[in-house]
Amino acid sequence: MCGIVGYKGNFINVKVILDTLKLLEYRGYDSAGLAFCSEGNLFVRKSKGKIDNLYEMVDSLQTDLVVAHTRWATHGIPNDINAHPHTSGPLALVHNGIIENYREIKERLKDYDFKSDTDSEVIVHLIHSFYKGNLFDAVLDAVKILKGAFAFVVIDNNTKDLVAVKMESPIVIGLLDSGFLISSDIPSIIKWTRKIISLENGDVFYVHSNEFKIYNFLEQKFVSRNVEIIEWDISVAEKSGYKHFMLKEINEQGKVIRDTLFGRIDEESLKVVLDDKVREFLDSLNIDNIIYIACGTSYHAGLIGSYYSNELAGINSTAFYASEYRYIEKKYFTSKNNTLYIFISQSGETADTLFVARELKQMGENIVTIPNVIGSSMYREFLSFPTRAGIEIGVAATKTFTAQLVNILLLNLYLAQKKGFDVSHVIQELLFIHEVVDGILENYEYIFDIAEKYVDYQHFMYLGRHLMYPVAMEGALKLKEISYIHAEAYAAGEMKHGPIALIDNKMPTLYVLPFNKMINKNISNIQEVKARRGKVLALVDKKSKEFVKDLVDDLLETKYVNEYLQPFVTVIPLQIFAYSVADFKGLNVDQPRNLAKSVTVE
Ligand code: M6R
Repeated sequence: MCGIVGYKGNFINVKVILDTLKLLEYRGYDSAGLAFCSEGNLFVRKSKGKIDNLYEMVDSLQTDLVVAHTRWATHGIPNDINAHPHTSGPLALVHNGIIENYREIKERLKDYDFKSDTDSEVIVHLIHSFYKGNLFDAVLDAVKILKGAFAFVVIDNNTKDLVAVKMESPIVIGLLDSGFLISSDIPSIIKWTRKIISLENGDVFYVHSNEFKIYNFLEQKFVSRNVEIIEWDISVAEKSGYKHFMLKEINEQGKVIRDTLFGRIDEESLKVVLDDKVREFLDSLNIDNIIYIACGTSYHAGLIGSYYSNELAGINSTAFYASEYRYIEKKYFTSKNNTLYIFISQSGETADTLFVARELKQMGENIVTIPNVIGSSMYREFLSFPTRAGIEIGVAATKTFTAQLVNILLLNLYLAQKKGFDVSHVIQELLFIHEVVDGILENYEYIFDIAEKYVDYQHFMYLGRHLMYPVAMEGALKLKEISYIHAEAYAAGEMKHGPIALIDNKMPTLYVLPFNKMINKNISNIQEVKARRGKVLALVDKKSKEFVKDLVDDLLETKYVNEYLQPFVTVIPLQIFAYSVADFKGLNVDQPRNLAKSVTVE
């Protein structure tokens, strides 16, 4: 993780750099720092905690050369010393990623005085060990030795040169009228420029005076990269009256579904209309197996996708965590053109997911990615079918999850129609699901009252069956990541195989229970919990409510919809419940501890 920023050009107010860095705060926020050149000196300011601490330290300084960093700790606790930048002689460096061989490099650099516990500090000393007055040459020597994932920017106070390097971790270059603004992502810099170069793996971007060149150390030659003009708009992230971004983003889900569906269903024929390239690709295949690969919330969307593929499209399907699939031995894999891999990632940068996607691409497998961030690695390197959720600021994924569900469902409905299956009843309802979602969001304040009753529990069980099992997993993930309450999610039928031993009056169960063919099985489970003095909070629609209202302690309510659309309407009360519990506890809902929005390390 971590966000990095660099600038070289005519004088700029350091506050502009900090404003840019703040837009990368989603990538990590346990400490921050910057190094800048002024009147021949190199100044470093860094501090544990949020970027806000830095504003006071720099006042309104002007500089022509600066690097800045917001950190998500991997090696070494968050403190002032481990915060970036790290320095060596005239050099200052910020890094995002992990240097896997940092111990060996440290051994080799015995003469250097290491101040921090980070892996990143070895990079700057390593470069310095090769430095004979030319930063570019020294970096080229250093990258031959580094192993792992790294995007870094290093500046030289002697020559006023800047070098940015990309290997696995993201980095983009913004071209200003006079100078260069470098960052971990495009949205953080498009306020200043829309002319962007996205570096590729192995690229070393070097600026001397006002001239730049790009050398690729993997290809061992100078390369040229396209300057992309970014057309897409980002509305500057504002809470628009909501207390938190997460609550705002939950409330945007009706719109996000509508936007993501837009133009992708012919309302007269009720046929799915996929983006041309995706359609042509799917038409060229004869798929009999679909594997979804993702992490976290995106994995839950993939798991729901595997039910869609099996049941709607009639295609054998499974979902895997990318971090697990990465280590599955693939020596017996043969590409038979019959397996489709669907990679899901809102950020489009998650290291584990990207690794597997790249690996399978190299093996010639069939890949479609579903990123939310336009311009991300997954968007650029693969055939992508992007969602249209807009930027999500809250670290807990909410609206991007529902947007992913839309695209996953569309792909499966398309494949079903290709096989001649009649899925028009699902499509008919899908066209209006955004209205149903908006309806649910008109009345959710009662969830705050219910949440207040559950704030002091330390443990929760979340149960659901069939499509409601991944939804229960997603609800539990939301609760644990923002409220720090332990929440176990189980397929309800698995309860009796062990987890039931946990149930007592200190562990409430949240049962995801819209009306469907599982209703009677679910009621039996609830009775089993009640028989062990467990509290039950049931998420119901008007049909299932009739079955359980006298049996359970509290009710969260949603609308009754077709069972394949139930994930869209059941996840929302679960998001709001988790949000309310965290807010009652007075926690930082948008930036929960230890997390970051984009997980670019393994
Ligand atoms: O950007 P991605 O969708 O690939 O991210 C995957 C997970 O890191 C992410 O979903 C994470 O679990 C969120 N914090 C969930 O709210």
